[in-house]
Amino acid sequence: MKNKDSIILGIESSCDDTSAAVLVNGIIYSNVTANQSIHERFGGVVPELASRAHQENIIPVVSAALQDAKININQLTSIAFTKGPGLLGSLLVGTSFAKSLSLALNIPLFEVHHMKAHIHAHFIQDKELIKTTPNFPFICLTVSGGHTQIVWVENPLEMKVLGNTIDDAVGEAFDKAGKILGLGYPAGPQIDELAKKGDKEKFSFTFPKAGAFNYSFSGLKTQFLNFMKNSQQNQKNFVRDNINDICASYQSHLVNYLLNVLEKTILKYPCSDIALAGGVSANSHLRKEFEQLGMKLNCKTFIPKISYCTDNAAMIAMSGRFLEKEKVYGDLSTTASARIPMN
Ligand code: KG4
Ligand code: ZN
Repeated sequence: MKNKDSIILGIESSCDDTSAAVLVNGIIYSNVTANQSIHERFGGVVPELASRAHQENIIPVVSAALQDAKININQLTSIAFTKGPGLLGSLLVGTSFAKSLSLALNIPLFEVHHMKAHIHAHFIQDKELIKTTPNFPFICLTVSGGHTQIVWVENPLEMKVLGNTIDDAVGEAFDKAGKILGLGYPAGPQIDELAKKGDKEKFSFTFPKAGAFNYSFSGLKTQFLNFMKNSQQNQKNFVRDNINDICASYQSHLVNYLLNVLEKTILKYPCSDIALAGGVSANSHLRKEFEQLGMKLNCKTFIPKISYCTDNAAMIAMSGRFLEKEKVYGDLSTTASARIPMN
């Protein structure tokens, strides 16, 4: 390693994943995540338990990330951490850890916006493969357990939300439906799997109205609940006999809805490159249909690899790299913040 090397430790703790990553001169050397299985039995993240689990996980996860990268802690040149948005108790663990380490090692801090970091995941370069990245400006559909946004990405640090959910996020629409179906948490990946064997035309749902380029998912969740209640009244083993078709139909409806609003937005704000980001972008049907939309609109499409879709510290370190380039440093007076606007 040379004197002017950039060796950034990324730390992510906004929800229920504790993650640490090491980024050396813009290339990812390690990315370690501890998932919290404790929430499964409650069908959703319990904030108090998440915060406690982060406290237990953070030191082993950071140690593993340094070890995997073959980097000594004293070689780090800066620390990037998730300031927010997210669960306050969870964010506080990563924030306090990052501040303490920055003070101990006397290296700078970078305060990272979690949703911007999901978009920055597109710029992570792996050691084995240097991949093409979106050209600025581009539009990114950011879909996670807490957010559903259509973002105009002017440059790495300047982003503008063109459309947003007015209530719940699409990830919640997957997870709540999964809970009603008796699936574990998070249900998104399980619905994705079951849907592969189902008929997506079997059951139909209606599109909610949220105005302009916005989304609404709370009405869809109620629609799904009522559909299930009515169907089970008429057919005792409705779930057992139709699980694959229910998942395929509901998933297809969510994806059609996401892409329908996205298409309208792209037609209003033309751009040559479009991207997907966030946990729900791991969904196989969404990935396929997004490619189709790109072909239809003559836009180049970018989809992150699966390990960079859900929460991870590699994307946090990547945000740190952009902040480092622009010399946007944080300081030790910084605090975690449950809500932070995008611009
Ligand atoms: O980005 P993320 O890891 O955490 C947040 O910032 O919220 O997103 C988690 C969400 C969960 O709602 C989970 O069910 C969903 O991403 N998810 C999926 C898939 N994989 C994860 N949803 C649908 N299909 C998937 N394959
Ligand atoms: Zn996230």
